[in-house]
Amino acid sequence: MRMVDLIEKKRDGFELSAAEIDFIIKGYTDNSIPDYQISALTMAIYFKGMSERERADLTMAMVKSGDQIDLARIEGIKVDKHSTGGVGDTTTLVLGPLVAAVGVPVAKMSGRGLGHTGGTIDKLEAVKGFHVEIDNEQFIHLVNKNKLAVIGQSGNLTPADKKLYALRDVTATVDSIPLIASSIMSKKIAAGADAIVLDVKTGAGAFMKTLEDSRELAKAMVRIGNNVGRRTMAVISDMSQPLGYAIGNALEVQEAIDTLKGQGPEDLTELCLTLGSHMVYLAGKANTLEEARNLLEKAIQDGSALEAFRVFLSSQGGDASIVDDPARLPQAKYKYELEAKESGYLSEMVADEIGTAAMLLGAGRATKDSQIDLAVGLVLRKKIGDKVEKGESLLTIHSNFENVDHVKELLYKNLKLTKNQVNAPTLVHGEIT
Ligand code: URA
Ligand code: CA
Repeated sequence: MRMVDLIEKKRDGFELSAAEIDFIIKGYTDNSIPDYQISALTMAIYFKGMSERERADLTMAMVKSGDQIDLARIEGIKVDKHSTGGVGDTTTLVLGPLVAAVGVPVAKMSGRGLGHTGGTIDKLEAVKGFHVEIDNEQFIHLVNKNKLAVIGQSGNLTPADKKLYALRDVTATVDSIPLIASSIMSKKIAAGADAIVLDVKTGAGAFMKTLEDSRELAKAMVRIGNNVGRRTMAVISDMSQPLGYAIGNALEVQEAIDTLKGQGPEDLTELCLTLGSHMVYLAGKANTLEEARNLLEKAIQDGSALEAFRVFLSSQGGDASIVDDPARLPQAKYKYELEAKESGYLSEMVADEIGTAAMLLGAGRATKDSQIDLAVGLVLRKKIGDKVEKGESLLTIHSNFENVDHVKELLYKNLKLTKNQVNAPTLVHGEIT
């Protein structure tokens, strides 16, 4: 096989066979195929697309390029949840203990990563003593015992995807649905889940800005999962404004606790119940989605979801007393209110720019080596559709810098008020199975 022939084949719009895709991914991983040929191929894929079969083959070729996690010793059906990323997305922190409380095993491998706030691990590290440096044996033991554990990313998972994603980033080929879908799904499949619930975000704060693109990406990922033998479904959810109120690491831990107590923001609670119901259903712990939802609502009401969070934190060294005394979480030195300059209705809150404001405060990493300040961030007081009086607080800034003028300026620019009443955005735009 010659790489140049395969580039030509795709360039002319033909399908690549499974053997050809394997040859490409193997060759790229072992450096026998150079970057420039792979760049030409990804550009050809960008323009010509990939069939459903090619997408599944590409995904599995990337899965096989590195280690695969074996969760066989964990009892039950392991359901993983993946979000395509948003601003102030506290769902993972809530969903872990929530579904664990009804008996769904959650074996979470998580990362830090770049972004407006830290990743799940950073957020959890706002809890004093909590750590993810546990070995595989302990991880499996904890999931079997408590139904929930989080471990840091280790091993050599999907090295082909790492190389390919970095190359796409500098060759203007990130924005290709087949390439995005196989990239995301390869990582989920290598991490060992039996079933996958995807939360595909749509709107200003999302990777996919339009509903049409989000739906197409969701469909592509669901097809890949189901075609390679992992039951997969997707929820398409709103990210035109941040989810919940809190954006920031310790602030989101507090928000997760509130939500597990049944006192969380309406949108975050609803999305967690929706995603959680699908997880419980796919795990075979309920016969219908309605039954699944009832189980989750009960776990919130009777305190078992909150208890699962306590047990989870203390099992990994964390100070579980923060659950009853959140003031023990890291606190910022200064709190400033962002006061409305006029009265009206909040009509726009550009999610990714609000996220950038949180990052400027130190809540997230701008580069791989940036230090995160776990205490800082934003707490929204108003969401789209809310009535606002002049002088009322739109949000609270939690900062360790005394001067936050530049952050305020960015926030004012991205929070719009109108005189006319506006509707709150739809939270769940659809489900794809
Ligand atoms: N996220 C991924 O993991 N891969 C992509 O290709 C795009 C977003
Ligand atoms: Ca939030």
